[in-house]
Amino acid sequence: HQAEPDSLRTPIVAVLGHVDHGKTSLLDKIRGSAVHEGEAGAITQHIGSTAVPLEVISDIAGELVNPDDFDLPGLLFIDTPGHHSFSTLRSRGGALADIAILVVDVNDGFQPQTHEAMDILARTSTPFIVAANKIDTVPGWNPEQNRPSKVAIESQSERVQSDLNDSLYEIIGQLSSKDISADMYWRVQDFQKNVGVVPLSAETGEGVPDLLTVLMGLSQRYMKDEMEIDTAGPAAGTVLEVKDTQGFGTTIDTVIYDGTIREDDTIVVGSKPEPIVTDVRALLQPKPLAEIRADEEFEQVPEVVAAEGVKVAAPDLDDAMAGAPVRVVGDRELDDVLDIVRKELADIEVSTEEEGVTVKADTLGSLEALVSTLEEDEIPVMDAGVGDVAPRDVRMAETAETAHEQSILAFNVDVLDDARQLAEQEDVGLFEHDVIYRLIESYQEYVEEIQE
Ligand code: GTP
Ligand code: MG
Repeated sequence: HQAEPDSLRTPIVAVLGHVDHGKTSLLDKIRGSAVHEGEAGAITQHIGSTAVPLEVISDIAGELVNPDDFDLPGLLFIDTPGHHSFSTLRSRGGALADIAILVVDVNDGFQPQTHEAMDILARTSTPFIVAANKIDTVPGWNPEQNRPSKVAIESQSERVQSDLNDSLYEIIGQLSSKDISADMYWRVQDFQKNVGVVPLSAETGEGVPDLLTVLMGLSQRYMKDEMEIDTAGPAAGTVLEVKDTQGFGTTIDTVIYDGTIREDDTIVVGSKPEPIVTDVRALLQPKPLAEIRADEEFEQVPEVVAAEGVKVAAPDLDDAMAGAPVRVVGDRELDDVLDIVRKELADIEVSTEEEGVTVKADTLGSLEALVSTLEEDEIPVMDAGVGDVAPRDVRMAETAETAHEQSILAFNVDVLDDARQLAEQEDVGLFEHDVIYRLIESYQEYVEEIQE
């Protein structure tokens, strides 16, 4: 059957990568190019995301994208500073993002967070492309704004081309050492089997047309069916961040990927021990640039239709968890919606065992990633939770049978002072890191040490 055009939602594109590799610059460039094309107004800036309509993509991509060939409305980009990639990449136990851009600095290559992001992409089966960024920094590079990638590369000196190629093949090699077959995007025939690498510069815009073309092509070709949603139905979304917002108390930054959310809607938000049931007080979006005044950063909107990012203000959100589901109840039974949310939260707890270490992480997404990596490394987990390390976690860890399992692995969270004291006093191992595999490594080294 043929879908109504307005029921195809915008694909959600997560931009991931190591610190400083150029995620935000890339989005800025796309926004800036739209300003250049006189279409600044067409781009809408949401909380945590930027919507770029098809016409703008087509203008930036030039003859590479003909709008007549597409019926998706555009692309919704989510920038992921630091570790929010983990929340961005989960919903319904799978991926919130439909597709991802893994940004890699060509000079810097794969770095810890690149590996981490890639592991999660693989685990959630999220299709992705690699943006090999900063090609303009290859010594001797001759820039020309916004050219397609191949044209830009072919107009460089032999020396520059060969240096760039070395860096690009290093990246392709890193991917293949993770069993991902990758190649320059223009050589990729089947993007479901091979990952395309797009050489580009977020500074000069070279290669940005190619990136947008590949993204649109991929979405249209492989994701159209998944983009068919019931826009009028009750909204489903994911919490990206829990934040204080002046004048509104604790609010949640969310991405809505299905249906519609309105002011006064009753919502269920994932939390521990029980989901939160509350009523939407306000839906907030950043004010358009021209209208920003110091005292009013946000404007209230009456409703938000998927896919879009929005800040939700409502009472009782203090215990909401990043990475947790949000559901509008609509005309369904509250109990049924509570069950849906509970079930989704329970999905990540099944992996705990009778015996093992205690783990804490900053978001549900990172907890999920950490627990499953521990599983792969055959390190059993006894208790897993979101939030800072508190004395009760130390008490929990103490109950483990073996000395080395009397340990807490803390990912990207604080350790409360009294918990640290208690751990010292009770001889409970405390491992802290903001890179998952480093955290696990330091625990493994400790285990080896005490087993010697
Ligand atoms: P985090 O959000 O901190 O993880 O960093 P990010 O990935 O968003 O990187 P960001 O866009 O902030 O860029 C980091 C630095 O690299 C900035 O100084 C940018 O100006 C610079 N940069 C990014 N892309 C390019 C590029 O293509 N060429 C050059 N020359 N510099 C770039
Ligand atoms: Mg950034």
